[in-house]
Amino acid sequence: MDAITRSPAAPTGPDVTRLADYRPPDWLVPTATLRFELAPERTLVHARLELLRNGQHDRPLRLDGDSLELLALAIDGAPQPLPAPSGSGLTLALRGDRAVIETVTAIHPVTNTRLMGLYASGGNLCTQCEPEGFRRITFFPDRPDILTRFRVRLEADRAAFPVLLANGNPGAAGELPGGRHFAEWDDPFPKPSYLFAAVAGRLEPCRDRFTTMSGRHVDLAIWVAAEDVPRTAHAMESLKAAMRWDEEHYGREYDLDVFNIVAVHDFNFGAMENKGLNIFNARYILADPETATDFDLDAVSAVVAHEYFHNWSGNRVTCRDWFQLSLKEGFTVFREQQFTHWLGSPAVRRIEEARALRAFQFPEDAGPLAHPVQPDHYLEISNFYTATVYNKGAELIGMMRRLMGEAAFRRASDRYFTANDGKAATIEDFLAAMAAEGLEAARFRHWYHQAGTPRVEARLRQEAGATILELAQSNPVAGASAPPLLIPIEVALFGRDGTRLTEPRLVTLAERMAEVHFEGVEAPALLSINRGFSAPVLISPDPDPADLAILAAHDDDPFARYDALQRLMLLALLASIEAGAPRSHAEVVEAVGNTLKERWRDPAFVAEAILVPSESLIGDRMDQVDPLAIRAAREALRVAILDGCAPALWDAFHAEETEARDLSPRAKGLRRLKGVAIAALLARDDAEATSAAFRMFTSSRSMTDRMAALTALASSSAAERQEALALFRARHGDDPMLLDKWFAVQAGSGRADTLQAVEVLAQDPAFDIRNPNRARALLLGFTANQARFNCPEGYRFIADQVLALDALNPSVASRVAQALTRWKRMIPPLAAAMRTELERIAAAPKLSRDLVDVVSRGLG
Ligand code: PHE
Ligand code: ZN
Repeated sequence: MDAITRSPAAPTGPDVTRLADYRPPDWLVPTATLRFELAPERTLVHARLELLRNGQHDRPLRLDGDSLELLALAIDGAPQPLPAPSGSGLTLALRGDRAVIETVTAIHPVTNTRLMGLYASGGNLCTQCEPEGFRRITFFPDRPDILTRFRVRLEADRAAFPVLLANGNPGAAGELPGGRHFAEWDDPFPKPSYLFAAVAGRLEPCRDRFTTMSGRHVDLAIWVAAEDVPRTAHAMESLKAAMRWDEEHYGREYDLDVFNIVAVHDFNFGAMENKGLNIFNARYILADPETATDFDLDAVSAVVAHEYFHNWSGNRVTCRDWFQLSLKEGFTVFREQQFTHWLGSPAVRRIEEARALRAFQFPEDAGPLAHPVQPDHYLEISNFYTATVYNKGAELIGMMRRLMGEAAFRRASDRYFTANDGKAATIEDFLAAMAAEGLEAARFRHWYHQAGTPRVEARLRQEAGATILELAQSNPVAGASAPPLLIPIEVALFGRDGTRLTEPRLVTLAERMAEVHFEGVEAPALLSINRGFSAPVLISPDPDPADLAILAAHDDDPFARYDALQRLMLLALLASIEAGAPRSHAEVVEAVGNTLKERWRDPAFVAEAILVPSESLIGDRMDQVDPLAIRAAREALRVAILDGCAPALWDAFHAEETEARDLSPRAKGLRRLKGVAIAALLARDDAEATSAAFRMFTSSRSMTDRMAALTALASSSAAERQEALALFRARHGDDPMLLDKWFAVQAGSGRADTLQAVEVLAQDPAFDIRNPNRARALLLGFTANQARFNCPEGYRFIADQVLALDALNPSVASRVAQALTRWKRMIPPLAAAMRTELERIAAAPKLSRDLVDVVSRGLG
């Protein structure tokens, strides 16, 4: 060992990481052996890293570290003097091409409120390392292109921590003096440090077995608190279904002897795909029909599958650097979506995916935080776990599949997995595999580098003997010089009597403009476009409302038909906002009434289609958002629909009763429609509807029904509202996930006094800002409430909460702060008020890097 140099102090100003600066690591870590002396206040981590110089150079070894207390350091067995205490990493100059570095560090789980690294949750200990949490456990080159074979030994008090879990397969276990015990774990698959995990706790398993396609036996276990074991059945069934599905649809088999899942109540995101040891936010594991809604149950299936699918798309093939995040996330969301389509109701699922993309990703792509699916620089990578990287990323995969066809896409995905197994790959590697099976990757790749939602202008023109579709693409965010994108758009033509005139056709728009000829179509036709939501684009210009009404009644593509009714409603809303006065909504009311008549055929579809566009979706169509004008127009449309369709809505409300335990698509669809119906019936907040909602709340055994009724009542001024909220809290107040719903439902209320209610809720003894689920329920529930959050007092309240949260958990704080970044789009007095709060945050001392990043981009 030659010298120990202190790394420079942690950067005070935010420093940018750039894709263009990527360099392979100077040193590799083929193996790491870790021994944890676990204790909640102070845990000791003994690390032994075998290092290998990567290539010929004389650069020192750089180890990342964050909030570590270094107690001992040895190089090749020789103890070293300790550098002065440092909050950041270590730089060591090494001779030779190999070295063994041994460190002992102390870390402090109970005071780790960031929930990154090793932390305490409900008396248990667990880790979260993605993206840069491993450096909060021990000194390590914490970057995903270093693949290490980890061997781990956990030691802890047996009474407090009877279960000890880590990645890979279990090895020796036994007793230690002083009431302690140990367990050893060995992961044979080299992995990046972000996939490291360890858990110690008082947990009980739900166990099962799975036999893979090649006949290998896997022991499955979901670990939870003893009283929660009965609520793990749905997650376990979902896991086994996902394992089989990945074999059958992607040829991917599980590779360890065990697969463990642990559920914790304190977690920054949804769940984490650590190799062989997934750690979940409990809300995506614990679910039964008595305490979970249909939506919750579906979310459990989706997230369990998502994390499992990462075993191949993320773990066996991992990411070279964090600019490749969508390589694993976009692809895995896409695989998760295919799986949920396979579970049931694919058409309605596709509608939900489109609705979510428009509600979350389109606004992101149009605002100050817009970024490409593959960003080229970042200040803080934690802020890039976004709808763009995840959901737009998934849409890109779906477009490739549509362009190539199913069979070629499967061959290409096999090729990708085979060529990159055991490697840290790039989005370019993925595109190369697709290109080898026919994708025009040189053009398609532009999708990864352009921010902004592309616009496609579509116009029909009549010529002798033919109808011609003129298409033109543009992207105002990316600018006129950005290269055109390869956009697959499915179209069909309809007659005015509602008959389809042509076969559906997949048009590939490759240049800025294109023309498509439909020979033999002579009568003026209606355009059914972007069928199946084939591309994540905005279509313009708006068609004539009368044409939309015909398509809303007759289009045979469920998404296009849904979209026709949604656009019809949006146009009516925008027109009445512009007129500043209520208009006749006869056309919309008739279309909604016609759609309701078909509820017996597909109730879930009808529920989606008749849902009045949300206030924020309306705002996204306006240059300047005036939240109260939007709300007034929307309420007026709701009243018009109620006045015009009351009998049909009551019929939908009273339709077939379902068994709470019946999770068939039809039963779920009937409940969904009933929930949409009760919300619609409450548009006038009259006594008949409020008492029906209250009865639905008190008498149904299904949480789906109960939550739908409670949500509708939450905006009411009837006495039943308070009664229902009190009953819910009395009955479910000790279930954290249901208490989250109780907070969220009130934060989302349309009532004029919602801000005051939220301020009171923030003082409730059950409101714990340290718990991410609780903080999100109240704060994100409120910021999503466009009409009530958007006022100077609402902004001030949220800014105060952001500052309080930032000192504890920057990841959650910066997520909440995003609500304050879209000030440019608000009407002037609100824009000024929002900006003032953003500036107030920016001026506060000791902000986290996460928050500085969001606030500085927000101020732009
Ligand atoms: N990788 C996780 C997923 O499956 C998300 C996550 C990111 C979880 C960061 C925790 C921390 O999507
Ligand atoms: Zn993921």
